[in-house]
Amino acid sequence: MNAHQLADKHGMMDRAEVDLLQACARQLPANPVVVNIGAGAGTSVVAILEVAPTAFIFSIDPKAVAEEAQALSGAGLDARRVVRLLGKSQAVGAYWPFPVDLCFVDGNHSDEAVTGDITVWKRQVRPGGFMLFHDYHHYNLPGLSPIVDKAMGDCERVGEARFLVAFRITEGSK
Ligand SMILES: C[S@@+](CC[C@H](N)C(=O)[O-])C[C@H]1O[C@@H](n2cnc3c(N)ncnc32)[C@H](O)[C@@H]1O
Repeated sequence: MNAHQLADKHGMMDRAEVDLLQACARQLPANPVVVNIGAGAGTSVVAILEVAPTAFIFSIDPKAVAEEAQALSGAGLDARRVVRLLGKSQAVGAYWPFPVDLCFVDGNHSDEAVTGDITVWKRQVRPGGFMLFHDYHHYNLPGLSPIVDKAMGDCERVGEARFLVAFRITEGSK
């Protein structure tokens, strides 16, 4: 099953969101480092690997959910390119050792957790890299968009699709 089909099946993302994520991932350099916050059904990692097959993806989730690995093998992708980091993204990122090319944020959507993800991960994404937030403008999560808008105001907004927004990290952003 490809990313569009996974989106249709699980509803974690829709096809337009997959397209936006892939538009960002297509611009990554070879062998990019990607951080995927929230493994879920694996839609986001399949979407990224479809267009950036040399990516090395760290997928963070407190649960050892198997759906992501199943989605990768079902899509015929190399599951060795995705490493699961078991834990909360806010804690995992605290001691992160190398620059990130793309960070996809779709884990705990509480105001506190999203604030924590931005605090921890924004500084890890290199200038020119991407940070995307899922459930932006979601009707059930009114606190999320103002937090993202405020924290990402010094970055370039490069796209929006349904509940997904994408930013390019700019030189000198905090
Ligand atoms: C909406 S799903 C992610 C969907 C996934 N991006 C996809 O495309 O299928 C949210 C996931 O975030 C995980 N999660 C919850 N709290 C988290 C945290 N603090 N850090 C990382 N992941 C978390 C949940 O266990 C769940 O698997």
